[in-house]
Amino acid sequence: MSLDLEANIVETAYARWAPIYDAVCGPIMVPGRRAAAQAARAIGGRILEVGVGTGLSFDDYDHGTQITGIDMSAPMLEKARAKMASGRYPFVKAVHQMDAHRMTFDDATFDCVVAQFVITLVAQPEQVLCECARVVKPGGRIILVNHLYSEVGVAAVVERWAAQRTRALGLRPEFPFARLQAWAQSSENAILVERRKIAPFGLYTLVCFERTGVSAAA
Ligand SMILES: C[S@@+](CC[C@H](N)C(=O)[O-])C[C@H]1O[C@@H](n2cnc3c(N)ncnc32)[C@H](O)[C@@H]1O
Repeated sequence: MSLDLEANIVETAYARWAPIYDAVCGPIMVPGRRAAAQAARAIGGRILEVGVGTGLSFDDYDHGTQITGIDMSAPMLEKARAKMASGRYPFVKAVHQMDAHRMTFDDATFDCVVAQFVITLVAQPEQVLCECARVVKPGGRIILVNHLYSEVGVAAVVERWAAQRTRALGLRPEFPFARLQAWAQSSENAILVERRKIAPFGLYTLVCFERTGVSAAA
C-alpha cells in the first residue's frame, strides 16, 4: 500500500486547518521556518514559496527578495492574501492557487524555491521536486525544511505508530531523508548540497539542493 497522501485528503485537511493554523502551527514551526528563509535570503532575488499556506513566513523575508507563493488550498491562501493586504509585505508579489505537481511557471523563473513543511505532504514528492528543479534557475537552490522520519530509536517506533492515525490531519510523520537523497541521486539537474538539523532541538531538518546546468546569464 502506498503511504503517500492523496490530494483530496490534503485539501480537506487544510480547509479545516486554515482558521486555526497560525495559532497552532505558528509557534512550533518557527525555528524551521526561520532557518529556511534565512538560507533563501542569502540567495535573494525571486523566491518561490511552494505550499506558502497562510503566509506565516512573510515575516522572515525582506526587501532583498521578491516572494511568489503557491498553495492548493484556497482557505489557506485567503489568510495569506489578508496578510498581503495589510501592506506590511510589499516584497510579496503574488500568491496563486496552484498544485505543486503541475506548476504553470516557465522553466528557470526563480533564483530559489523554498518549501517549508510541505514535501512530506504532497501526493508525489519526487514529481514536486522535479517541478521545483524545472522552475529554478541553474545555480539556484531548492530549500526544504521538515520534520523527517527518525530512522532508528524510540522516535521511529512512535512515528510508525502515528503514521496511520494522522493521515486525515494531512500529516505524514514517517517520511525518510533517504527518499530525498534518492531523488537527488537519480536527478539529472539537481545535487544535494546540504542536510542540517535545526537548533534548538533538532526536530526539523533543512535539506538543500542545487540546480545544476549552465545559467543563461553565464
Ligand atoms: C503544513 S502546511 C505549511 C504551510 C507553510 N509553508 C508554513 O510553513 O506555515 C502545508 C501546506 O502545503 C499545501 N500543499 C499540500 N500539497 C500541496 C500541493 N500539491 N500543491 C500546493 N500546495 C500544497 C497545503 O495546502 C498547506 O497549506
